[in-house]
Amino acid sequence: MNKKSLFSALLFLGLISCCIDNSTSYNIKGQDYCFCNQGYYGNTQAGQTCQQCPQGTTSNPAEQHNNYSIGFCSNCLQNYYKKSLAVQDDTRRFLQTDSAAVCIQCPNGSGNASGPIPAGDETQCNTCQPNYYMTAAVSKIQAAQCSPCPSGSGNKGVNSAGDLSLCNQCQDNFYMTATATSGKGASSAQCSPCPPNSYSTAPTSVGFCTCFDSNAIPLSSTQATCACLSGFAGNVATAKGQSGCQKCGLNQFVSGNTCVTCADGSTVNKDFTGCTCNDSSDGTMPWSSKTNSCQCKENYYGTPDKATQGQQGSCKQCPTGTSSKVGTKTSDQCTSASQKPPSDNTNPASQSFSEIINISLLISLVLTVFF
Ligand SMILES: *[C@@H]1O[C@H](CO)[C@@H](O)[C@H](O)[C@H]1NC(C)=O
Ligand SMILES: *[C@@H]1O[C@H](CO)[C@@H](O)[C@H](O)[C@H]1NC(C)=O
Ligand SMILES: *[C@@H]1O[C@H](CO)[C@@H](O)[C@H](O)[C@H]1NC(C)=O
Ligand SMILES: *[C@@H]1O[C@H](CO)[C@@H](O)[C@H](O)[C@H]1NC(C)=O
Ligand SMILES: *[C@@H]1O[C@H](CO)[C@@H](O)[C@H](O)[C@H]1NC(C)=O
Repeated sequence: MNKKSLFSALLFLGLISCCIDNSTSYNIKGQDYCFCNQGYYGNTQAGQTCQQCPQGTTSNPAEQHNNYSIGFCSNCLQNYYKKSLAVQDDTRRFLQTDSAAVCIQCPNGSGNASGPIPAGDETQCNTCQPNYYMTAAVSKIQAAQCSPCPSGSGNKGVNSAGDLSLCNQCQDNFYMTATATSGKGASSAQCSPCPPNSYSTAPTSVGFCTCFDSNAIPLSSTQATCACLSGFAGNVATAKGQSGCQKCGLNQFVSGNTCVTCADGSTVNKDFTGCTCNDSSDGTMPWSSKTNSCQCKENYYGTPDKATQGQQGSCKQCPTGTSSKVGTKTSDQCTSASQKPPSDNTNPASQSFSEIINISLLISLVLTVFF
């Protein structure tokens, strides 16, 4: 069976519909019709596309057959009041004179959660929208008076007048440092913005934000920023669902944001910030992050890089009269004091340059003495 006949078969069985955008198929007495979705109107039977209802208005759901007229846009959206009703000619003879309801946005944070049904004025706006508190209830002449909740505090919307304590939660991506208090000197919840790379969802109690990275140290009164957990390295995730902090491997320490394996002969510290040489006796240089190695001090020789934990005396002193550099491994590398190591100043250019300086210094000295 090819694709085309499969399609026809499915169409025949009514398993797929071929409704145009913003409409849904309904079967009425064995026949399929496409009706515009809620928020749209139009006569799809007459080949019209579904048009969006005008600003602030909406139509009934598709199963109520929103066909043919803009007059089907008879409802107001949430937080709008209905200035006038929709007009719809049921005879369908004067569709040009049909009109949608006129819905006006509720003023200054006031609202109407259900979307009003009768026509009215702004007194239909008898609630406050989320993150506003009501300073005066709706009256015969004006909408509920609503003020924005201060500095990151908020609520889910209120139905009655009250004080700042109506702002009893924090907005998204804020955390609460103190709860709201009512009565004399009322205050809203105290809210602070989440630190970078963390979030919150409208917290209702005192607490902290959550780092995007699940491998970050939880934020607390002593942990103000998102950072990788001990023994994890990387950059903390900058978005939800990501993870930037990776667990370091066996015997690795965290250096900046990478994991580094401890040098031979050393063991990672409990806090994963460095290592300790297995042999920490006298002649061994203490482990440092600069070198990440276990080696003997000056004038000692040996192989502390092969030491097991608890082992002692891996570095032995050079024979009397001899000396050695840091990291010397065998006694024959301990050299007697007369054997001068070759000079570091081997660059002929720099040598002759300092000679010239010396000569000119000498000349200027001589001149100063004589004149
Ligand atoms: C919408 O169209 C259908 C199918 O043609 C019809 O049965 C229904 O009465 C119409 N609805 C309205 C409200 O006119
Ligand atoms: C809304 O707030 C503005 C500015 O605060 C004010 O001028 C206006 O009168 C208010 N409107 C209503 C309907 O309360
Ligand atoms: C919305 O408006 C209607 C009509 O005036 C009213 O009955 C209702 O109480 C208002 N408020 C809410 C929250 O629905
Ligand atoms: C140092 O000690 C650790 C822990 O006991 C061990 O894993 C490691 O192998 C030791 N180093 C050497 C070179 O033996
Ligand atoms: C320059 O003079 C200093 C002392 O004045 C001396 O130690 C040094 O060797 C001289 N350098 C050269 C290249 O002659």
